[in-house]
Amino acid sequence: MQVSVALLVLSSILLGVVASPLNVIRASNSTSTIAPKVFIISMFTPEANIWYNIPDFNLLAQNITVSGFSPLFPDAHCTQDGSICQAVTGEAEINAAVTITSLVYSSKFDLNQTYFLIAGIAGINPKLATIGSVTFARYAVQVALQHEIDAREIPSDFPTGYFPQGAEAPGQYPGSIYGTEVFEVNDDLRQLAFNFAQNAKLNDTAAAQAYRANYANDSEFAQGAEPPSVVLCDTVTSDNYWAGTLLGEAFENTTTVFTNGTGVYCSTQQEDNATLESLMRGAISGLVDFSRIIIMRTASDFERPFSGQTAIEGLLASQGGHAPAVTNIYTAGIEVAGVKPSNYIGDIFGSLGGQPDFGPGSEFGGQRAPSARRSMKINALRRLNW
Ligand SMILES: *[C@@H]1O[C@H](CO)[C@@H](O)[C@H](O)[C@H]1NC(C)=O
Ligand SMILES: *[C@@H]1O[C@H](CO)[C@@H](O)[C@H](O)[C@H]1NC(C)=O
Ligand SMILES: *[C@@H]1O[C@H](CO)[C@@H](O)[C@H](O)[C@H]1NC(C)=O
Ligand SMILES: *[C@@H]1O[C@H](CO)[C@@H](O)[C@H](O)[C@H]1NC(C)=O
Ligand SMILES: *[C@@H]1O[C@H](CO)[C@@H](O)[C@H](O)[C@H]1NC(C)=O
Ligand SMILES: *[C@@H]1O[C@H](CO)[C@@H](O)[C@H](O)[C@H]1NC(C)=O
Ligand SMILES: *[C@@H]1O[C@H](CO)[C@@H](O)[C@H](O)[C@H]1NC(C)=O
Ligand SMILES: *[C@@H]1O[C@H](CO)[C@@H](O)[C@H](O)[C@H]1NC(C)=O
Repeated sequence: MQVSVALLVLSSILLGVVASPLNVIRASNSTSTIAPKVFIISMFTPEANIWYNIPDFNLLAQNITVSGFSPLFPDAHCTQDGSICQAVTGEAEINAAVTITSLVYSSKFDLNQTYFLIAGIAGINPKLATIGSVTFARYAVQVALQHEIDAREIPSDFPTGYFPQGAEAPGQYPGSIYGTEVFEVNDDLRQLAFNFAQNAKLNDTAAAQAYRANYANDSEFAQGAEPPSVVLCDTVTSDNYWAGTLLGEAFENTTTVFTNGTGVYCSTQQEDNATLESLMRGAISGLVDFSRIIIMRTASDFERPFSGQTAIEGLLASQGGHAPAVTNIYTAGIEVAGVKPSNYIGDIFGSLGGQPDFGPGSEFGGQRAPSARRSMKINALRRLNW
């Protein structure tokens, strides 16, 4: 109950930064439709499991089968009150797109006011962060949506075999645009999430510490050798799980070109542009608010080797980052998804649930008043003069 109160408060705060006049109040008119405050998007089992058996809320209180979800992960999971839900997409772009599209168009959910927290592990650029770090992205760039020539056949003046479609060489702007090359999400919301996540005490392990120490000799990788932290930097998507200095640099360059110089190539993963395209289609259909998306990726492995190590050695090495990265999805994510107030929040009647620390006590036996959710939203919007 405290958590749902906190979510209402978080949402109210978030309403302040989601400066969209589209956020009007809609009376919930269906008892069968779940209208979550937060939808956590996990990609595979370790990312999903970190949210179960936690003290904060129980996502396994409701299992809701959604047509079109992955056969490996057929159910959405929700708290009893439906305020927090989770979908597990399955890995890589096709699974992410199909699952999120199925979710968006499912009649079982009303997602119009829902915040989406993409919360997964990722590769990491040692120029910007280290294993175990938590990143929040503004841009998601689909870097492998390009022409590719095998490295053994590239022209002698090409620094990489990848170059944009409709272009003639690396570094040129694509002549042919498919529409999913770059997505940009709400930066004000990202800053809020970043601030909340700073409250987390990030997990680290001896194995991760030992491995990252290898990056200390190269000044370019100073951040890679530092302890884990919360970082604002962008994410790149590709079905192809690449590794190595040259592909890292090639996709850094791609990120620069695709974002007109603003994107910061940092975390690497296999789903986010697909998830974002599905949410984009949902937004176009009026089903999803695209200003309510947070992309949080925690770093499980370096995408390029340290000096003296080969690309294949780096890719195959046991880097020790998986465990802290998975743990930190929860450690940082809970600060964003379920900010727990340390004090009572609400009115003298206890309308939002819980026991007031003033007045005669809850009118509702500590439970939430029936229409509290709606009046809270109205009050928040009134404060904003909407
Ligand atoms: C979602 O909210 C927007 C803005 O109020 C509205 O235009 C749209 O019709 C809503 N969509 C649904 C499915 O209710
Ligand atoms: C709720 O549904 C009923 C029946 O479908 C409809 O008549 C009514 O207008 C709806 N109310 C709102 C607030 O959407
Ligand atoms: C939901 O599914 C999980 C297993 O995925 C199970 O542990 C849990 O008991 C289920 N919840 C309900 C309410 O059936
Ligand atoms: C992928 O997402 C990033 C960041 O939102 C965006 O910059 C990029 O255009 C997207 N790419 C595609 C192909 O949608
Ligand atoms: C980090 O998380 C692991 C579980 O993945 C746990 O065993 C360990 O105690 C945690 N370490 C710290 C410093 O919190
Ligand atoms: C880093 O430098 C130290 C001292 O110069 C050297 O002993 C160590 O082997 C180097 N580590 C790597 C990974 O190159
Ligand atoms: C990246 O771009 C820089 C600047 O244009 C260029 O010097 C370098 O060769 C490129 N690297 C790769 C791997 O494409
Ligand atoms: C991005 O770069 C391309 C290629 O130079 C250019 O055509 C386009 O106008 C730029 N867009 C912005 C918003 O600067």
